Amino acid sequence: MYKGQEQETKKPVTVKTLAKMKRRGEKIAVLTAYDASFAALLEAAGVDVILVGDSLGMVVQGQSTTLPVTVDDMVYHSRMVMRGCRYPLLMVDMPFMSYPNLDAALHNAARLMQEGGAHMVKLEGGGELAEIVHQLGRRGIPVCAHLGLSPQSVHKLGGYRVQGREASAASKMIDEALMLQDAGADVLLLECIPAALAARLTEQLKIPVIGIGAGPNCDAQVLVLHDILGITLGHRPRFSKDFMVGQKSVQDAIRAYVQAVKSGEFPGLEHSF
Ligand code: KIV
Repeated sequence: MYKGQEQETKKPVTVKTLAKMKRRGEKIAVLTAYDASFAALLEAAGVDVILVGDSLGMVVQGQSTTLPVTVDDMVYHSRMVMRGCRYPLLMVDMPFMSYPNLDAALHNAARLMQEGGAHMVKLEGGGELAEIVHQLGRRGIPVCAHLGLSPQSVHKLGGYRVQGREASAASKMIDEALMLQDAGADVLLLECIPAALAARLTEQLKIPVIGIGAGPNCDAQVLVLHDILGITLGHRPRFSKDFMVGQKSVQDAIRAYVQAVKSGEFPGLEHSF
């Protein structure tokens, strides 16, 4: 069989694929990318979901937070990623204040899909977003909700800190996760929360749960590309890992990340809270 023919039998990853993977207990590998060349490398390494994260504000633009990132920035990077791959599901962040009300959320999510080629949009926030999540879903826009540490709220949170440590915060997070699932969220992302809380949420929810700094029991793991390649500007978060160590190439490092997620070897206890 020729290489090209082999590719033809492959199917694009969809929301249904992710739901099936959760049911089967198959780990889902997610990684960020911001341009076509890296998107192609991620696809070749077997990444299931590519996240065009607003982390691009920090790792690509050199900003100190994600707050200055605009919808135009997200469209620009998402289009590049879209051109570099065919099979992974393309999840794109809605940046800070691009969903303050329903009209703005619908308008900006539509831009990310029509101009940026997004297959799913991601929003940071809790129960206050339930109506927006519901209305996006009614218009055929798949949504990933994002709970725990929300970098767009860094100034309100007073820094990048683990969330949901206290019993009241943990129980609020469980209520909000259920509310977002009921509103129609297709996926939930949990950032920087105790591993035990993430395990409980993953067990309780029907939708796939992606973790970052949320321990080993989530259905999926995501990291920022620059962190796994050891080219983070400044401090690399404890929950991340430099996969370039011991590898000969960028492609090998990305493959090692995918393999470590799929086998359950990453994250270890040292990457969890
Ligand atoms: O912007 C991003 O890359 C993200 C991940 C950190 C989950 O939201």
